[in-house]
Amino acid sequence: MPASRTWRNGIPSLPDSVLSASGRSVDAYLQGVVEVAPADHAAALAAVTERAATTRGLVVDFILDGKVVAPSREVLAVEADDELFTERGPWLIGFVREALLSASDRRRGGVHHTDPALAAEIAGLAIELLGRRHDEIVVVDPAVGGGVFLLAVAERLEAAPAEVVHHLHGCDVDPMAVAVTRAALTIWSGGIEPPSTHLQVTDYLDPMTSFPGADLVIGNPPFLSQLKGATVRATSERHNLANRWPGVGRYVDTAAAFMLASVDGLLSGGVWALIQPDSVLGASDAESVRARLATTAPVERIWVDNARRFDAAIDTVALIGREGSSSDVTIFGGVPASQLGVVSLPSPKSWAPLLAPARGVTVVHEIAVAGTLGDLALTTAGFRDQFYGLRHAVTEDEHAEVRLITSGLIDPLVNRWGATPCRYDKRAWLHPAVTLELVADDIGDWVKARLRPKVLVASQTPTIEAIVDLAGELVPCTPVVTVEPHDPDDLWRIAALLTCPVTSALLAQAASGTALSADALRVSASRLAELPIPADDGAWTLAAVAARAGDVAATGAAMQQAFAIDDPALVEWWHSRLPNRGAE
Ligand SMILES: C[S@@+](CC[C@H](N)C(=O)[O-])C[C@H]1O[C@@H](n2cnc3c(N)ncnc32)[C@H](O)[C@@H]1O
Repeated sequence: MPASRTWRNGIPSLPDSVLSASGRSVDAYLQGVVEVAPADHAAALAAVTERAATTRGLVVDFILDGKVVAPSREVLAVEADDELFTERGPWLIGFVREALLSASDRRRGGVHHTDPALAAEIAGLAIELLGRRHDEIVVVDPAVGGGVFLLAVAERLEAAPAEVVHHLHGCDVDPMAVAVTRAALTIWSGGIEPPSTHLQVTDYLDPMTSFPGADLVIGNPPFLSQLKGATVRATSERHNLANRWPGVGRYVDTAAAFMLASVDGLLSGGVWALIQPDSVLGASDAESVRARLATTAPVERIWVDNARRFDAAIDTVALIGREGSSSDVTIFGGVPASQLGVVSLPSPKSWAPLLAPARGVTVVHEIAVAGTLGDLALTTAGFRDQFYGLRHAVTEDEHAEVRLITSGLIDPLVNRWGATPCRYDKRAWLHPAVTLELVADDIGDWVKARLRPKVLVASQTPTIEAIVDLAGELVPCTPVVTVEPHDPDDLWRIAALLTCPVTSALLAQAASGTALSADALRVSASRLAELPIPADDGAWTLAAVAARAGDVAATGAAMQQAFAIDDPALVEWWHSRLPNRGAE
């Protein structure tokens, strides 16, 4: 569902690919149509259809719900060069459809059309992977919108337009979207209408929806978050999904359910290609979807939106998979798409590592490991209760015996308590102290159990940032994660392990797409427990000595040795992300 990049007066401005093809007049035309369009949007779309058809010497009706719609005179009169309609006519109808919808309708329906240039890239990658005769490929777009993906496929297929149009299918819950797509394809093909049953007004996820077996399912399904608001599925829809794919979590984004339905609709060896929010790669709710895809039609190509081409709030990817089995994924970025690397398909637990090459995270290939951090220590994180339960217990006290530590006070191997102000509970503190007697009853035991030697790890930082609490005097404030070694002698070894290029890069790969920003790591207790520990014990001990001395660079260097990896680019990546507090 990528949203268009910029919005003026609530109208999406057209993507650069459209503008560069036809000049700024496209944008002006769109504005003009929105200003004069009647409340009946069909009449406006009929007018755009008429102009796009006549400039190509065609007569094409705009048909909504089986009836021919009369074009709006006002919209017919909006000034624009004929060139605009000859060049971009079929695409323009869809963009007018999107522009006419109110912002809330767009949000509720997940209606955000795709840039034609991007759709063309994804179609190219998918058709190439499919590798079948172009005049026989049966295509289904599960959420046609303005028809941009069917148009993109049609443009890419080297076959006669009449042949191509007879192999295109699609649906949308919005009858207007289906009418627009029909008009767009008819104009594109020079007047050959897609067969009436090929474009359906229906919910793609409805078990009754049926299409012929597809060689290619391609499109941009709605991203409808199930966590809040108007986009949450109705109970009946949730039941439908649960019955169809047992084990699929109730909070799975609708876009992820479209992947499963697409795969169900493929012919043997068929290809699916869908735009997705990148959170689908790492979200734990989507693990069951990833596991299913891995065994039915694994991802073989991924296009990563590394330039935030769309709405700044959502990072997107296009996933392209093929029915059958495969283990490698080729990563692409940019428009035109260029290849960024090839990696093995990660385990369904997280596919976030696929984002790493496009997000500037160095991929860690071969390292020598001897187990995981979870073998040596208990990793725990507090929740909301732990955060709010300290509320009445925190005071300002320079000589405090029990101190509160927030993420902001943790730098690599440096505890900044008393040196840097921090925020807790909407206030700034310099010496936040915890009075144990005033801690809320329900978290009292939890707080006392934390008062032992441990390592504390910040969250939402560019690399892993950890400190050692030798005296056991620090109370972690959520979301700080606590690492308590089974053997206290391991404290500095664990601090060294966490102050290390390899572990930061591994966590960045595993957690890409789940943090608040693309540059931050979301540290969780379970992800820390899964971090590998190095095979070379001697080098690890040296790293622990450097960590105890507070030498971050030497710790990182020794840890690289401990993991038997010589990768200057990885070390440079890590250094560039360490906090730079200047001369303070
Ligand atoms: C993100 S838009 C994509 C449109 C088009 N594929 C494109 O890329 O420009 C999503 C479309 O999905 C439609 N839609 C929403 N829920 C649907 C469902 N359950 N089944 C089919 N279409 C749906 C919306 O009406 C909207 O047109």
